[in-house]
Amino acid sequence: MIKNMPDLKKAQRRTKNDVNIIKDSFFIPPMMQNIGQGKYYHIVTYGCQANERDTETINGILEMMGYQSCTDAAEASVILLNTCAIRDNAEQKVFGKIGAIKHLKQSKPELIFGVCGCMAQEEDTVNEILKKYHHIDLVFGTHNINDLPTLLQEAMQTKETIVDVLSQEGEVFENLPTRRDNKIKAWVNIMYGCDKFCTYCIVPYTRGKERSRLAVDIIDEVKSLKAAGYQEITLLGQNVNAYGKDLNSEDNFASLLEAVALLEIPRIRFMTSHPWDFSAEMIAVIAKYDNIMPFIHLPVQSGNNDILKIMNRQYTVEEYKELFDKIKAAKSNVSISTDIIVGFPNETKEQFADTLALVEYCQFDNAFTFVYSARKGTPAAKMVDNVSLKEKQDRLQILNKSVNKYMHLQNERFENKIVEVLVDGPSKKDENILSGYTAHNKLVNFKGDKTLIGKIVKVKIVEVKTWSLQGEVI
Ligand code: SAH
Ligand code: SF4
Ligand code: F3S
Repeated sequence: MIKNMPDLKKAQRRTKNDVNIIKDSFFIPPMMQNIGQGKYYHIVTYGCQANERDTETINGILEMMGYQSCTDAAEASVILLNTCAIRDNAEQKVFGKIGAIKHLKQSKPELIFGVCGCMAQEEDTVNEILKKYHHIDLVFGTHNINDLPTLLQEAMQTKETIVDVLSQEGEVFENLPTRRDNKIKAWVNIMYGCDKFCTYCIVPYTRGKERSRLAVDIIDEVKSLKAAGYQEITLLGQNVNAYGKDLNSEDNFASLLEAVALLEIPRIRFMTSHPWDFSAEMIAVIAKYDNIMPFIHLPVQSGNNDILKIMNRQYTVEEYKELFDKIKAAKSNVSISTDIIVGFPNETKEQFADTLALVEYCQFDNAFTFVYSARKGTPAAKMVDNVSLKEKQDRLQILNKSVNKYMHLQNERFENKIVEVLVDGPSKKDENILSGYTAHNKLVNFKGDKTLIGKIVKVKIVEVKTWSLQGEVI
């Protein structure tokens, strides 16, 4: 049953209409109350923190219905894939998983298998699902997570695939339940959507228009996280610098960040800040408060002005460097990381060399590097591209070599130094080793007692690697 099909043209539209902030209390329809009693759900989350945070909302809704989470998909009565559409390889991973779940559905017909998140917002993906993947019961998008109980009910009552994906500017829901697994670090949405329309990017279509939560709601959430013992919060938005622009108030990201810093939560981070409107006030607040971590993610995408222009990034290489230098000068010893795309349509060897030169100039603490992937519906996808995939992959390797060199170099700043590590838990590789992150977002592994988990401890760095540091508790 098709209730609403995604429509990228509609998703692109932006009006000046006020954003609807929904605060009425959320309830589960009577038919679905306790439906999950004694049953399990299993969610796989792909993509960025926005999706991770959405999964926490989905978890909250399912648990309100009585379901419990499980790690083994075979035990679940509800399986959901919360998907990412940012690059083709992200999508291929999801299609692989969809295929892998088919046998579970065959052996357990009452299982509800749903796909949600950013891929669900794409017309082509949903058409492919309807054509080829009949074992999917439910497709819903990023704008109607709140309808999950009703959609589940409909999926249980019919044998058809239910599709309900809204391509609208979006609302702000303040009333949805949340279940956070992590008790040490929390993500806090400060705004949704994106209006930047970088020409390669699908996010403005899958997530709707930029819309901010009210500062008071954000502050209340952070206060309650602090009371619950959280040590670190990350303020989330596709471009946090745009915070408040859609509100009829004086609030902006600098004022919000300051208000949050004053709540004295030990560690504050934010993701992501676009170089475009990174204001002087923001830099001043970041410099002023010690609990705003000395780590900034500042995606540059390319080191060439012509490419930046076609990408619609709205800054030049010179402006980026100026901002980079200002942040470095304002906050002592700050770490800066970035995102870079290689092989944007028709990128020349010289233009790529400009990106390498920028990496040499900035000597980033970390860089997430990607081969450009055409996203249907975006302006860049319509450009003719004369760069072969092989050439793009070669460029990525050359870039990564340089990026890794500087990562190691930046890590060397901490050799023999004492750093504060917020301990996450045992390391993934070795049960007896603890791991956590420094203020500068460096991963540190060290021997230590499990009672240190959740605490900020002083560790001496004894060995420096490219991806992590080795330490000893002092
Ligand atoms: N809002 C964030 C980016 C979120 S997407 C920002 O602007 O900083 C994370 C990264 O994925 C982007 O910074 C970009 O480097 C990369 N990316 C986005 N679209 C892409 C595409 N079509 N192909 C390759 N990489 C892409
Ligand atoms: Fe995509 Fe650009 Fe928005 Fe980031 S700022 S989500 S790259 S459109
Ligand atoms: Fe992916 Fe959607 Fe995030 S496309 S990167 S999950 S906003």
